[in-house]
Amino acid sequence: MNKRIVFATGNLDKMREIREICGDLDYEILSMKEAGIDVEIVEDGKTFEENAKIKARAVARVCDAIVLADDSGLEIDFLNKEPGVYSARYMGEDTPYEKKNAELIRRLEGVPKEKRTARFVCAVAAVFPDGKEACVRGVVEGYIGDRPAGTGGFGYDPIFYLPSGKSTAELSPEDKNSISHRGRALRAMKKELINHEDLNCQ
Ligand code: IMP
Repeated sequence: MNKRIVFATGNLDKMREIREICGDLDYEILSMKEAGIDVEIVEDGKTFEENAKIKARAVARVCDAIVLADDSGLEIDFLNKEPGVYSARYMGEDTPYEKKNAELIRRLEGVPKEKRTARFVCAVAAVFPDGKEACVRGVVEGYIGDRPAGTGGFGYDPIFYLPSGKSTAELSPEDKNSISHRGRALRAMKKELINHEDLNCQ
């Protein structure tokens, strides 16, 4: 049996998080670069799940390991779930998040707190060497504040507030990982990996 997991990402923070969560499994966990894989991937899915599967399948075509891929973003209910799957590309990939966050707050001007509900979503897809697939979703619910707060995290963290009233940019990395959409999805995927292994060993 192949005991390698390739995570289809070049992001070092994501690699650290998957190693923290799945490191106790009996797999070697590699990034695409560590596995010597370089493929062009067009993320043109309409949902987080579709994009995660597109990435995992593209990498699985060129390697013989278990391939995992994720896709994540922020959904704001009042804005018809924008920026959604376009979270990274919203207002342009290179636009600083101070500007993106200021624009989202502007678009919600005058909207009362109970209508500012939002969530971070993360889908993680797996393609196994036997062709089987799995896909899970992790979610953290909150709302968009009326001003940015905190200096931790990245991206939309300063404007995304938890029900406690703290933004996710105000949490320590450990506290954020313990409740984050990605942490939740990776822990759910860990169960899928264990199940798949159990099924194949019977
Ligand atoms: P991707 O899944 O790496 O493509 O990330 C999508 C985008 O969603 C990121 O570039 C951020 O804009 C946003 N995003 C995803 N997760 C988080 C988070 O934990 N905090 C803030 N922004 C996030």
